[in-house]
Amino acid sequence: MDTYTIAVVGASGLVGRKMLQVLEERDFPVKDLRLLTSARSAGIELTFRGKSYRTEEVSARAFADVDIALFSAGSDASRQWAPVAVNAGAVVIDNSSAYRMTDGVPLIVPEVNSGDLPDAGPRIIANPNCSTIQMVVALKPLHDRYGLHRVVVTTYQSVSGAGKRGVDQLQAELDGGVAENPAFPHPIVENAIPHIAAFNESGFTVEEEKMINETRKILGDAQLNVSPTCVRIPVRSSHSEALHIEMRSSFELEDVRSMLSAFPGITVIDNPARMEYPLARNAAEKDDVFVGRLRRDPSVEHGLIMWVVSDSLRKGAATNAVQIAELWLSLLPSTGK
Ligand SMILES: NC(=O)c1ccc[n+]([C@@H]2O[C@H](COP(=O)([O-])OP(=O)(O)OC[C@H]3O[C@@H](n4cnc5c(N)ncnc54)[C@H](OP(=O)(O)O)[C@@H]3O)[C@@H](O)[C@H]2O)c1
Repeated sequence: MDTYTIAVVGASGLVGRKMLQVLEERDFPVKDLRLLTSARSAGIELTFRGKSYRTEEVSARAFADVDIALFSAGSDASRQWAPVAVNAGAVVIDNSSAYRMTDGVPLIVPEVNSGDLPDAGPRIIANPNCSTIQMVVALKPLHDRYGLHRVVVTTYQSVSGAGKRGVDQLQAELDGGVAENPAFPHPIVENAIPHIAAFNESGFTVEEEKMINETRKILGDAQLNVSPTCVRIPVRSSHSEALHIEMRSSFELEDVRSMLSAFPGITVIDNPARMEYPLARNAAEKDDVFVGRLRRDPSVEHGLIMWVVSDSLRKGAATNAVQIAELWLSLLPSTGK
């Protein structure tokens, strides 16, 4: 089997470390690894398949002979270094928001829109926002079968979505202290903060606007109405979302349940009588998108409500990025790389 040289930019971060774990779990064909960070974490040791690798500060030289560069170091680093990696011959799979809405850059959730990556041509492929990924996985079968008119979504997002600083803030507060370098504008323990990323003039936050724009791009539906409120809660990992969906045509609840159950990457847990529904705690360290609390919304025509939970570091970031890399590799023979 062909094997590949992989760079992980942001290897010391929560997503970067999870990428290493996922590459190992999925037995990705890795020949060599370059673990790249800022100067702050250069020189630390990380383990992959039992072997120790030393991180190095990102540089142009570090991308020599790299086949696939997985970026998770924030938008500024992606804007600075993704073109350098591409010029060196790598394909970039970027977890940041830097290129997600750029024309010609595919924004991919493999179960949903693998067809938007028709060949191995594009050299930058964007990985969507974590809240968007789990929502579009749950929406896709409904979009295809019934059409979607409007989605009202409220998120309950874990602190790991804000990286190391988010987890450190939660832990410092749980330990009775105050974070030195807080990630959130308010204490997170005993709180629900309706503010993720900066506010725009529209009154929506950047996180909420990502959910609107990225969902439209991934589902290929520029008319879709998406109305989000994004909230940070004191949960370590896994984002939960309440989706209120207005479909374009009538549906049977049992058909919806069967379609969701049959869709790749979805597990339906929906037995309220036994108190069984998706929970953030149970989704942690799993790759699936969990869907439950399925019910009709009688307040609107063709209305459906559901609860969607997924591990934001896995399907919301690392797993989806590695799945994109696998998809890209599967397309290689047709282009003769
Ligand atoms: N957390 C999530 O659930 C999630 C989900 C989807 C997407 N993302 C995206 O993934 C990216 C990383 O998130 P994270 O949660 O892993 O954050 P994190 O835990 O704070 O880690 C950030 C990583 O980026 C590196 N980095 C920062 N600035 C850099 C620079 N100028 N050059 C090179 N490396 C730099 C850091 O290196 P040092 O250790 O040297 O500082 C660290 O390895 C962000 O773009 C985020 O939006 C995160």
